[in-house]
Amino acid sequence: MNENEIRRDLLAFARPDLGAKEKEAVLRVLDSGWLSSGPETKRFESEFSKFLSVENAIALSSCTAALHLAAAAWELGKDDAVLVPAITFTATAEIFAYFDCLPLILDVARDDYLFSANIVREFIKEECHWRNNVLVHCQSKRRIRVLVPVHLGGRSCDMDALSEIASEYNLKILDDAAHCFPGSYKGHFIGGLADATAFSFYATKNLSTGEGGMLTTNDNALAKKIRVMRLHGIGLSGQSYERSGYRYDVICDGYKYNMMDMCAALGRVQLKRSLDMLKKRQAIHNLYDEKLKDIHGLALNPKYSHESAYHLYTIEILENFGLKRDRFIDEMRRRNIALSLHFIPLYHFSHYRKKYDLDASNYPNAEAIYKGIVSLPIYSAMSLDDAADIVQAIYNICA
Ligand SMILES: Cc1ncc(COP(=O)(O)O)c(C=O)c1O
Repeated sequence: MNENEIRRDLLAFARPDLGAKEKEAVLRVLDSGWLSSGPETKRFESEFSKFLSVENAIALSSCTAALHLAAAAWELGKDDAVLVPAITFTATAEIFAYFDCLPLILDVARDDYLFSANIVREFIKEECHWRNNVLVHCQSKRRIRVLVPVHLGGRSCDMDALSEIASEYNLKILDDAAHCFPGSYKGHFIGGLADATAFSFYATKNLSTGEGGMLTTNDNALAKKIRVMRLHGIGLSGQSYERSGYRYDVICDGYKYNMMDMCAALGRVQLKRSLDMLKKRQAIHNLYDEKLKDIHGLALNPKYSHESAYHLYTIEILENFGLKRDRFIDEMRRRNIALSLHFIPLYHFSHYRKKYDLDASNYPNAEAIYKGIVSLPIYSAMSLDDAADIVQAIYNICA
């Protein structure tokens, strides 16, 4: 694409990277006659846990299910609260309402947009008290039980600093790693650094099974409980793929959150390709970094010192760019390039605002970020030429 030219075809914001091997894997399952959770799911779980060097990986129908099951297994309830960041997808906070548990929504760091240990510490100092080994939120009188870091865009939060707070105040850490496969922190893959980690394999994610998710943990007792809860509370030896006869026992409350073998077969192929796909996204990221750095009025994707999973590439449209963010998105769309926005902060949604009495003035960093942020396409099914078209379109808009 040259100056003033417009792409002929629409460049989608995201598209799963699927090839002949994925098709072959799904067809193999269709031919096998076993479509629900079975041998493929078991293999996917063991290959995934080996890949991340984590004790347990539990395949589920979504990342939302993974977050829900961890919270259910920890028996969160109406006397409890958790800390979540304002810039995330609604799933991160919504699951706590299932138990009437209160998500306390915190501002994020201005520089990297992430859930920040400094902001958590400040919140604890100003709004909580610590008595008899229990951290209580003064206003709601609820006990704070869990920190929920979101590794936004594939960049992990500062896990050392958050783990320090968690052990000081007797809190669990539930990682929302929907964007962070395969991302790392200080040389370790995200997946084994928190009490539990939730991954998403939704259609637009780095590894896709259409819909799907995985919970990983080094806590064997938690894993055992979640394996039972994910399938109606049926005891492990009674779950349909495992049992020899028709008898089974229901041993606790449960849900229908298992993964289908068709999805697991797809996931196994995607897992094998995941480092190659990561390299492609990294190359697109580097191209944006290099080609957009001299454009006036743009702040590029936050710099990051660990190994990102390169799920998003965000830019901020600043005051002096000459166009407001929404106009920029429209202009790119006119040039056949679809953009997206990650994320509308939770306190901007009418439901959250009303239910939790939230006010934008308490979120100066998230507000400043939200004002200009926009996400450019970055996925392994697009080419470097597609990325160059995006760069050219931005230059054309500036001109
Ligand atoms: C940060 C974040 N958390 C959780 C989810 C939920 O993932 P799933 O659709 O697999 O439930 C998403 C999905 O987009 C997400 O972006």
